[in-house]
Formats: sequence, structure tokens, C-alpha cells
Amino acid sequence: MDMKAKVLVVGGGGREAAIVDALSRSPRVGKIFCAPGNAGISLQAKCLPLEDTQIDELQDFALKEGIDLTVVGPEVPLSMGMADQFEAAGLRVFGPSAKAARIESSKDFAKRIMEKYGVPTASYRTFEDYAEALEYVRSKNTFPIVLKYDGLAGGKGVVIPENLADADEALKDMLLDDRFGKGKVVIEDYLEGPEFSFLCFVDGEKVYPMVLSQDHKRAFDGDRGPNTGGMGAYTPLPFISGEDRDFALEKIMKPVARGLVAEGCPFKGVLYGGLMKTKDGIKVIEFNCRFGDPETEVVLPRLESDIYDIFCAVADGKSVGELKWKEESVMGFVLASKGYPGKYVKGKEISGLNEALSDPDVKIYHMGTTVKTASDLKEGRCWTNGGRVLMVLASGKTPRQAHDKALAAVQKIHCENLFYRTDIGHWAL
Ligand code: AMP
Ligand code: GLY
Repeated sequence: MDMKAKVLVVGGGGREAAIVDALSRSPRVGKIFCAPGNAGISLQAKCLPLEDTQIDELQDFALKEGIDLTVVGPEVPLSMGMADQFEAAGLRVFGPSAKAARIESSKDFAKRIMEKYGVPTASYRTFEDYAEALEYVRSKNTFPIVLKYDGLAGGKGVVIPENLADADEALKDMLLDDRFGKGKVVIEDYLEGPEFSFLCFVDGEKVYPMVLSQDHKRAFDGDRGPNTGGMGAYTPLPFISGEDRDFALEKIMKPVARGLVAEGCPFKGVLYGGLMKTKDGIKVIEFNCRFGDPETEVVLPRLESDIYDIFCAVADGKSVGELKWKEESVMGFVLASKGYPGKYVKGKEISGLNEALSDPDVKIYHMGTTVKTASDLKEGRCWTNGGRVLMVLASGKTPRQAHDKALAAVQKIHCENLFYRTDIGHWAL
């Protein structure tokens, strides 16, 4: 009898590709399923024709198939209560309850937790009423100012107006026209400094830090252009000292984990601290209740410990032990459809994937691709099927080496409709 574990990964982007890849390195894992997965993921997992929000169908599948562990990638199913429902059905699941996921799904909840447990962040006020919110911005009269819609808004809920007229327009959008639904707006002070991501495995009060990473949010070189879901990421971060990292762990991540326990919603899963190194110290910009995308794609390749064991230990409330990491740099470049994050077309052919993979230090995680026949990927081709399409990454002894190897691989990939940044990791070079 095959005693190897069956694992279900929920989601279908680059993050899930990295999770599936890490799981496939575990000698304890047998078969991996991914819902919905994508073309690249299908090389390592059986993709299911189910969306990540079809919780009932996914639960039926997990029960029937005898899945040993379900790992939930995206925030939407988590805030819909997927982990709660799986746990109630007796299924082992890695991911927080809907109540704990409010650390991401409600900006106001996250700010209240930070305030109550003394975690450094920008000062703020929350408003439901448009006129009161506008009056607050007018009387404060300092720009830029940061306006955050309180609920999940697919990365589009943060606006940073430079003047009162733009602030007014954004507040109207959020509080009068209910662009994202009926909700509140958090208004907070604008902070400055480099941002970085601190992902930790968290089980109640226990916090197991991962290596630090940074994502590049702007579309174009030199940190110009519109905000995107992330155009690349890298690890480690030479500009964050050991002292800064210890501060972030002891004064930010641990107090929040303890705070969530004290509030009756212990967190289980990955707690993502979106942090900023300001001139007044490290402060929180946001929390997410899941692995970051594209940070996960560069962080997990450095993990030497068995990720299946980590997921199970967190899910079962057992000790994870010390995590082991490779001492190397990893840099990843996102290839995105021209026009992204605005309008773009799909269905353009991509070639050269095998040439890019000829360097053994290079990996490609698919974010939004499709194939026409099962042999397409073997022949190194696929078609664009999303805004962010591929993440091409390389490991190296130094940031420079990782950067140059990844960029060389990117340049071997051909597609008339893709663009990328060339300056990923510029803070570290
Ligand atoms: P969030 O969804 O909260 O991560 O916000 C999206 C982006 O807006 C962040 O990655 C920051 O670049 C920016 N941002 C959010 N809050 C602030 C702040 N208080 N000061 C400056 N920039 C911010
Ligand atoms: N990289 C940003 C995020 O995952 O939200």
C-alpha cells in the first residue's frame, strides 16, 4: 500500500506553482492535486476543473479522494471560511479561519489589533460617512494621504491622493458609489521608505519566520508606472539588518500572533507582514493572511526543511522546529502581458522556455498560461492567459549572480506581447 500523502493545493497562480514545487520535493508526498492550477503546475500536479472558491465541491473532492492535507493559497477562499469548513469536516487544512483572516480582509480590524497590541504602524482613523471622511482629510491638509477601502478589493482598494480633489474623488468612489460594496475607509498617514515582506508560519502564539523578501509593485523600471500585483521579487535583503529583522519578529509578528489568540481568533497558516523601513523604524503597511505572490516564488526555493512536515505541524498544532534555509540569493522576474495592470489581450504564443531552462539554476513558475496540447510544454511553448504570465527565477551565490542569470533566461523567452522589468533587486545590487 502506498503510504505517501495526497495533498490538495487550492489556487492557480505563481504562488501555488511554488507551493506545488516545494511539496513535490518532499519524500513524504505522493500525489498532488491543484484546483484550478495552470499549465505549468500540471507538470507536477493533477489540475482539477474547480475554482478556488468552490468550497463545497473541493470539500467533497477532498473527502472522496482521502486527501491528507489541503493548502489554501489565496485570501478569498480563506475569508469565505474554507479552512473553518474543512476543519469542521475533519479535513486537515493549512490556512487561517475566516475570523483570523480578517487581518487581511478588514483593514480596520488589522489597525485595531495593531493599536491594541502596540505594534508600530501609521496613525489612522476609520470612516463610514463620506462627508466626515472628507472633512477629516480637509482639516488634516497633509498630502499625500493614504485611503484604504476596508474590505478585500483585489489589490485596488488603496489610493494615495496628492491633493484634496483627488482624495474627494476616491472617497466618493469608496463611500458614495460603493465601488467595492458597502464599506468603511481607513485613512492613514503616508509613510516613506523601502518596503519588504516578512512571511512567517504561525500557529497560535508560535511564530516561525521565513527569510525576508521584497516585491517590486510598480510596472516599469526605476519604480515607475502603475501599481501591479508585483513584477518581481528577490531574497535575501542586504539593506535590512539582523537587528531590524529581530525587531520585526519580536515587536510586530509575535505581538500580532499573540493578539489574535487573545481576541479569540488564533491564526494558523502564513502571516505576511508588509513592512516598511522608515526613518523612525520598522512599521507595518499591511498584513496578509497567506503566502505573498510573487514573494513565495523566491522564498520557497531557499527552504531546505520539508514543507509537508511544516504544513502538517502547523495544521495539527505541533512544534515545527527550526527551519533550514539555503544561503543563496534568488531573484525572480515576472513577464506580464503588455497593457497589464490595465487592459491586455490573451492567447499569444510564448516560445523559448526550454532554452531558458538550460541553466540548472533557473526555474520557471507559470502564473497565467495555457497550452493547446499536452506536448506543448515539453516542446517549450505555451500561450499567454492572464496579466502576469510567467515568473522566471534564478539562484546564485550573490544577488548580482542571481539577477544576471534570471535576466539572461528571461531574454531567451520570446513572445510579442510580454514585457518585464530589468531592474529586479536593484536595492541589493
Ligand atoms: P496595501 O494594500 O495596504 O499593501 O497597500 C498597497 C500599497 O500602498 C503598499 O504596498 C504601499 O506601497 C502603499 N501604502 C499603503 N499604505 C501606505 C502608507 N501608510 N504609506 C505609504 N504607502 C502606503
Ligand atoms: N506581493 C503582494 C501580495 O502578495 O499581496
